[in-house]
Amino acid sequence: MKDYFKVDEWKIIEEGFDPHYNKVAESVFSLGNGRMGQRANFEEAYSGETLQGNYVAGVYYPDKTRVGWWKNGYPEYFAKVLNAANWIGIDIRVAGMEFDLAKCHVSDFRRELNMKEGYLKRYFNILGRTNIEAEVTRFCSIVDDECGAIKYKFGVPDEGEPYTSIIPYIDGDVKNQDANYDEKFWEEVDRGFWEDGGYVHLRTKKTGFEVATGMRCFILVNGKPIAIEPNRIEKDKYVGCEYAIQLEEASDVTIYKFAANISSQNHPKEKLIEVLKETLDRIAAKGFDTMLAEQAAAWAEKWKHNDIIIEGDAAAQQGIRFNIFQLNQTYTGEDDRLNIGPKGFTGEKYGGSTYWDTEAYCVPFYLATAPQKVARNLLLYRYKQLGKAIDNATLLGFKNGAALYPMVTMDGTECHNEWEITFEEIHRNGAIAFTIFNYVRYTGDEAYLTDYGLEVLIAISRFWAQRITWSAQRQQYVMLGVTGPNEYENNVNNNWYTSTIATWCLKYTLEAIGKVKKANETRYNELATKISFEEETECQKFSDIIAKMYYAHDDELQIFLQQDGYLDKEQILVKDLPATERPLVQKWSWDRILRSVFIKQADVLQGLYFFEDDYDTETLRRNYDFYEPRTVHESSLSPCVHAILAARLGDIDRAYEFYLRTSRLDIDDYNNDTEDGCHITSMAGTWMSVVEGFGGMRVKDGVLSFNPLLPHKWEAFSFQVGFRDALLNVRVSKAGVSIKNKSNNSITVKVYGNDHTINANADTLIKKQA
Ligand code: BGC
Repeated sequence: MKDYFKVDEWKIIEEGFDPHYNKVAESVFSLGNGRMGQRANFEEAYSGETLQGNYVAGVYYPDKTRVGWWKNGYPEYFAKVLNAANWIGIDIRVAGMEFDLAKCHVSDFRRELNMKEGYLKRYFNILGRTNIEAEVTRFCSIVDDECGAIKYKFGVPDEGEPYTSIIPYIDGDVKNQDANYDEKFWEEVDRGFWEDGGYVHLRTKKTGFEVATGMRCFILVNGKPIAIEPNRIEKDKYVGCEYAIQLEEASDVTIYKFAANISSQNHPKEKLIEVLKETLDRIAAKGFDTMLAEQAAAWAEKWKHNDIIIEGDAAAQQGIRFNIFQLNQTYTGEDDRLNIGPKGFTGEKYGGSTYWDTEAYCVPFYLATAPQKVARNLLLYRYKQLGKAIDNATLLGFKNGAALYPMVTMDGTECHNEWEITFEEIHRNGAIAFTIFNYVRYTGDEAYLTDYGLEVLIAISRFWAQRITWSAQRQQYVMLGVTGPNEYENNVNNNWYTSTIATWCLKYTLEAIGKVKKANETRYNELATKISFEEETECQKFSDIIAKMYYAHDDELQIFLQQDGYLDKEQILVKDLPATERPLVQKWSWDRILRSVFIKQADVLQGLYFFEDDYDTETLRRNYDFYEPRTVHESSLSPCVHAILAARLGDIDRAYEFYLRTSRLDIDDYNNDTEDGCHITSMAGTWMSVVEGFGGMRVKDGVLSFNPLLPHKWEAFSFQVGFRDALLNVRVSKAGVSIKNKSNNSITVKVYGNDHTINANADTLIKKQA
């Protein structure tokens, strides 16, 4: 679908309406503010293909598991973020013609997502008995984060006093497309009207979350408010206000709709309607233009801290801004109960739940671009769920406080119900441990280990120590029956990535035990007592596994093997696959995929990315050269890792190609699946591909280093990172690397291997030595 959207550095633009791409466009133009969000559905009726989607953060439903063949250990349910009440709806009819872009003759359609100021705008003409020109602006406010607002304006020519009906409404009678039993998840608590609006108060079945969604509406004809009482329309979970107007001349009609979602996550249930009314009064008094101006100012502030500027390549610039924009729309870090669902507020897939994506991809972005507490909260989220991770492991037969974190979760309970993922994709435990290491490495906050980290590490290590098997034949430990990150292989033995991250966890746990004992022996002893940690025997077991672990390897090719037997597969390459057969997941039977050599996403290379310092460049190169041509990147999480490794190996052209693929994955719908929603968690990977890939940023022994490369097409690029108490703007151009220290603290960094002290509030240019 490449080139459907126009290239612009600050906007995503759709020109001309193509109903076939509507669901993709609905995903790409999604709006959100961290608390609520929505797909870019139309306000007016639309009878064509659409995926209706409004979401309220943290409000979910445990949808009973549906599988063909129940297996012991399956989770009871899949916790899903719900499709919530539609607050954008406005039905419009002029002279008997219903506004419905699937039925009307539409011209001059244009949709624009303004990423600089945070709003969505749409223009279109409807050609019919009466020709209508419409312009619609909508946003989810990041200033009033429980609110959204719409300005819907249309012009009607002077053609015989058309009768016009306008019905702004709130409709809570909605379903999740992915509901397992076609069940509706909401029940009505109450509904009601105000003079110029109304509300629907809903409660989720089972979980009992309550959300009151309300609106206030104002209609102006030729700039003057009309003074008519709307007709009240109500039905189950629905309120609408019908304004029936007899237009008398050529007229401009403007509808302002102010809406809010007030959730029991943030307010007492008995106060929801009161808070809703107050909130709507407050934003209506502010007015649409003021809200929009505040929105622009708040986004300007966000961009000041987060923007990446790419000079000389508008498509690349648009890509990274789109990714940063969507990340900021999804998660603000202000509420430690929330996390980052792979689709954010842009679709239902993946249930809005937490995956290993957060640790492996998102945390680095927040570490460098947000206050330290944001990344810390993401770690604490898992710490708070440790008890449930232990329960999960216990359910599967593990003992002694071993923890298996869920592959998918809302509250710590496992919800994924495909056996090969639930039971076998255990590498997620490794990413959670790695993030503790990564956080401490980046921030220097060693106290985190003492206060929380070590407890998680020991529980995870206990799991690994029980999950491995002693092979009498090999006289080594092996890791049987796992699924690695590459989900195009299941139930494999000795997946290199899983075995490597498992032993790494054990090593890091031993190191952390040493550090915590030294820093605070009393606390260590308390912890050891609390979790009945038998230091001597358990550590001995950890060390034994570290010393005797088996890793799949091919001596001839000198590469790590993704798993035992990988070389038995027919060794064909992605370049030999006809384009018509891709994406494989949509074109091939599942069994054919499993038997093939093709890799869904970085697997061995994911491990080399995490543990790069443990391998020399030639090892990285051999493995990259072997696995890259076999990888189809059908997971959004893949190209960013390949981009970073390609840059590390100096392969700037490939790195650039992967960068475009990760940054424009949704804009260009590379994997033919953007209609389900955007790939939000991989967007943090896009950020990594610029900062860690082209910027070559690393942290080692408390020192920040850069080893930048400039893609040929770029004049320059710049990014910002906060590191400890310094805030740096790094600009890489043909002239060299200039680092501006925007803080009051000087810092010494390494650039191309040499130390440079960057004074507080100063700018330093470092030329690359030939
Ligand atoms: C990937 C997983 C990932 C999930 C959610 C899947 O397609 O294979 O690694 O966690 O998507 O992003």
